Amino acid sequence: MAADPTTVLPVLRAMTEDDVPAVMRIEKQAYPFPWTAGNFVDSIRNGYRAGVACLGADPIGYVVLLPALDEAHLLNITIAPEHQRQGLGGWLLERSIELARDAGAACMILEVRPSNLPARALYDKRGFAQIGLRKGYYPNGTFRREDAIVMRLCW
Ligand SMILES: CC(C)(COP(=O)(O)OP(=O)(O)OC[C@H]1O[C@@H](n2cnc3c(N)ncnc32)[C@H](O)[C@@H]1OP(=O)(O)O)[C@@H](O)C(=O)NCCC(=O)NCCS
Repeated sequence: MAADPTTVLPVLRAMTEDDVPAVMRIEKQAYPFPWTAGNFVDSIRNGYRAGVACLGADPIGYVVLLPALDEAHLLNITIAPEHQRQGLGGWLLERSIELARDAGAACMILEVRPSNLPARALYDKRGFAQIGLRKGYYPNGTFRREDAIVMRLCW
């Protein structure tokens, strides 16, 4: 059963380059095709909104958001596998939407693998709607790449 997230609220703070090794440990556990450390460093250096969710001193998740005019692109949202299914992904998505709003965005868009049923359920539940399909967007270890479902939430 999912824990009540209000009893275990993490703190979301800005990601720094010092966080990247801990973020990469989670990233490699969470994805079959993880981002590289360079992807996170570039995001920080380019001024993307990158945040780390911490329980005490421990990073348990993170988000990377690219605000662009009135639209924010959710590039990465991850909860460490041992902390999943406790309401924290929903909590982090809400914080991400707040960050996007604060940056002046009126919509959030994201890509998700059709095979990523947990993430799709999370976005569906929050009211994101499919607006497109990018063919062959994701690597999947074969010559046939996986499509991306493009989803959007406006407020
Ligand atoms: C997607 C992810 C962030 C969800 O985080 P989480 O902390 O497990 O999510 P929550 O516990 O807050 O769940 C919120 C909702 O998401 C959906 N969900 C989450 N995990 C699910 C699962 N394994 N199966 C089905 N639905 C799931 C449910 O709708 C859930 O609501 P419910 O608990 O009322 O049923 C997490 O699974 C993750 O980090 N996955 C790996 C990285 C990833 O794929 N990121 C998204 C890339 S597009």
